[in-house]
Amino acid sequence: MRDNIVAGNWKMNNDYSQTKKLINDLKSSKIPEDVRIMVAPSFTQLSQCKNLLNSTNISVVAQNMNANNSGAFTGEISASMLKGIEVNIVIIGHSERRSIFNETDEILKEKVKSALSADMEVIFCFGEELKERKNNDYFKIVNNQLRNVLFDLPESCWKNIILAYEPVWAIGTGETATANQAQEMHLYVRNLIRDNYSEATSENISILYGGSVKPSNAKEIFLGKDVDGGLIGGASLNANDFIEIFSAF
Ligand code: PGA
Repeated sequence: MRDNIVAGNWKMNNDYSQTKKLINDLKSSKIPEDVRIMVAPSFTQLSQCKNLLNSTNISVVAQNMNANNSGAFTGEISASMLKGIEVNIVIIGHSERRSIFNETDEILKEKVKSALSADMEVIFCFGEELKERKNNDYFKIVNNQLRNVLFDLPESCWKNIILAYEPVWAIGTGETATANQAQEMHLYVRNLIRDNYSEATSENISILYGGSVKPSNAKEIFLGKDVDGGLIGGASLNANDFIEIFSAF
């Protein structure tokens, strides 16, 4: 059985006091037992979130990491540093990392390998740009993104992978993929995994949708048979919105 997951990607938002308020608001809500809830603050707020969420089942996720374990990489953070503060989940391949920080499939592949060998869970993001959607190239693009980074991993690694389909044209734009567009892509991805690995692995992998998920559309999107939750940006900064979204299952 695969997990339902709702993860909030805070991006470069929330300082110390904003983090405290948001986490305390989340803690005072009713946390569903059948959904894994996660928050991904910036690096500086990871420890604070870990402490505040200590006695809850909300997980803390890093937004990024470097593939190297240590060394002369000014400004970077390794898997072992995250593990050292008991952060065991990391987002890799977010479209903002790809487009703003020029992270290529080769770089992402090294990051994924490094995270998995540190026994971390990886939320791997992928998705097409607007022109690729318009040109009907979106299956091909997604196929390449997954193949170039993930498809030569041994099957045993897949228990630590969570996928997040995030069409770039829907991220932060207010424009959401329709529930049908999300379901169509999720089914395509699940079939790809079945063809490259096995039925069991494809059935066990959680595939999240990300891109302008809001309280008003979460329920419909999560109804998709192959949609196992969401990676939520903007709406995860507002406690009430995030609570409504993770309560939408
Ligand atoms: P959004 O961001 O919900 O603000 O569109 C999603 C994401 O970038 O993960």
